[in-house]
Amino acid sequence: MDYVLNQERTAPTSPPKTVTRLGRRSFLKRLGWGGGALLPAATLVGSRIVSRAEMNNGLVRGDAALLRFLAVAEIIETDLWQQYNELALGNEAFQTALEVLDEDMPTYVNQNTRDEFSHQDFLNAYLVSKGRRPVNLEEFRTLPGSQATGANKTAKRLTNLTNLTVDTSWYTRYRSTGNPDFGDTFPQIVNLTNLPAIPEADLQVNSDVIQLIANTAAFHFATIEQGGSSLYDSFLPRAKSAEVLKIIAAIGGTEIQHFEVWQDKAGNAPPVPLATGTLFPTLPHSPDQEPNGVDPADPIDTNQVMARPCKFISRHLPLCSVIRPTSTAKAGAVAAATALTSSGLFTGQSDTFFEMLFELAKQADEVSRES
Ligand SMILES: [Fe+2]
Ligand SMILES: [Fe+2]
Repeated sequence: MDYVLNQERTAPTSPPKTVTRLGRRSFLKRLGWGGGALLPAATLVGSRIVSRAEMNNGLVRGDAALLRFLAVAEIIETDLWQQYNELALGNEAFQTALEVLDEDMPTYVNQNTRDEFSHQDFLNAYLVSKGRRPVNLEEFRTLPGSQATGANKTAKRLTNLTNLTVDTSWYTRYRSTGNPDFGDTFPQIVNLTNLPAIPEADLQVNSDVIQLIANTAAFHFATIEQGGSSLYDSFLPRAKSAEVLKIIAAIGGTEIQHFEVWQDKAGNAPPVPLATGTLFPTLPHSPDQEPNGVDPADPIDTNQVMARPCKFISRHLPLCSVIRPTSTAKAGAVAAATALTSSGLFTGQSDTFFEMLFELAKQADEVSRES
């Protein structure tokens, strides 16, 4: 099996050494995120010098704001997936626990990580090709990572996977006829509160504690990818150029593909017992997986993995199998940034990081096709 990850990257630009408390606009402008900055007459894209003459068809400001936030989201995704990848491939206890769900889990983690690198690199290179500066979050790479075998112990991270509260309501949402865009809410299928999703140090193979971590990670995989699916879909009606629409639809499509795989695998998570009772419950398996099962499948059975038809556009139209939510309020950039923040993914990050994240999210959500 090929576990080699292609990490060919575009050349990062150096962020400023210090960030003082200037206004947010000027802070973003200095980092090249202010929206208007053009590149010099020639610049580096990957290993190739690109002249201004090649940067035709300039990107309108709104489309640039959408792509800039997506680049931020993809850099964040890449950072967290890279941490999972190191441990899924290099830590025996974590790998073995993931394989309890499906023996292909480690290679699927690796493939998802590869895809995230390609998303961040493509979006930044596209911005550069249109005369816009790429997004660079290197100055925020300050968090310590896992010290377990397999992890790059000296690498600094953007994200924190050691104390997550994972929203598992996508499980019941995608098995329901409700839709958050209509105000519907959905219960958690598992309560995963303040739990690590990676081993911080080496743990015993086949222990309950590493299985709980792997189960948490498996649900987090799907949580991240369904959020990406909704985020991309929320941007679609607001992009102006046909090429940007194509980019959002095509990359967003792979987020959906990832989610679908992960929600199927998460359903295989085994119960994890504690001396005082079950910590991770038995998920609602389909009767056809039980001996002598005769009852019809329940909508929340683990094998009900295709998106159930739900309310869409209007209550007066037929139910339709779609990504949900897709509204700016429920699925847009601020909603995504809020959900990631409240999950604990950025625990330890600086105030400047959150200012950057929410300012760029706000700029993206303000874009309309007509503007
Ligand atoms: Fe992605
Ligand atoms: Fe993704």
